[in-house]
Amino acid sequence: MDFFVDTANVDEIRELNQLGVVDGVTTNPSLILKSGRDIIDVTKEICALVDGHVSAEVAATKFDTMIAEGRKLSEIAPNIAVKLPLTWDGLKACHTLSQEGKTVNVTLCFSANQALLAAKVGATYISPFIGRLDDINLDGMDLIADIRTIYDNYGYKTKVLAASIRSVNHVFDSALIGADVITAPPSVIKQLAHHPLTDKGLDQFLSDWSQTGQTIL
Ligand code: E4P
Repeated sequence: MDFFVDTANVDEIRELNQLGVVDGVTTNPSLILKSGRDIIDVTKEICALVDGHVSAEVAATKFDTMIAEGRKLSEIAPNIAVKLPLTWDGLKACHTLSQEGKTVNVTLCFSANQALLAAKVGATYISPFIGRLDDINLDGMDLIADIRTIYDNYGYKTKVLAASIRSVNHVFDSALIGADVITAPPSVIKQLAHHPLTDKGLDQFLSDWSQTGQTIL
């Protein structure tokens, strides 16, 4: 399973990159706002940092402007994935940009039928939003499982990119179901390493070690 980082903060990406766990990055207009940076500048910097796909989202809602913005974003770097919303115009733009050979991530997916259409029009990635479904008392993981089943039934190559991940359980459940990619905030990715028994065990080892009076170096 690939790990994408859901942030436009270059320092956070750089830190996780040192561990070798960053397979790609996803951004969106809210994350660009949070970064306080210009979309072109910050996206170019992120694309130079990571080898994998970096999603940059169009701001337009009409087909023609989506295409123009998608082409401009694609010029930033070869590893750009143009992020398009799952609307009728977004699907049309996905079809056109995919035909041009561009990588496309269709975002804001909340149903398996939407995901089916995105695959039909050639999306490289589909981004179902788990956390936002959980927020309204639905089960986001059911959506990931349904899309996985449908794509496998027909051999669609579109990658399931589990998005809007808010907890380590979302990562664990996505991995069990077989999502191709998860995109998570840096805090959640770091949290994956934590276990209280690891901390407790290490405290005991360090205490016992100090009583041996030994040094290794
Ligand atoms: C994914 O591409 C989105 O940017 C992101 O996962 C949305 O997460 P949120 O629902 O926590 O804002």
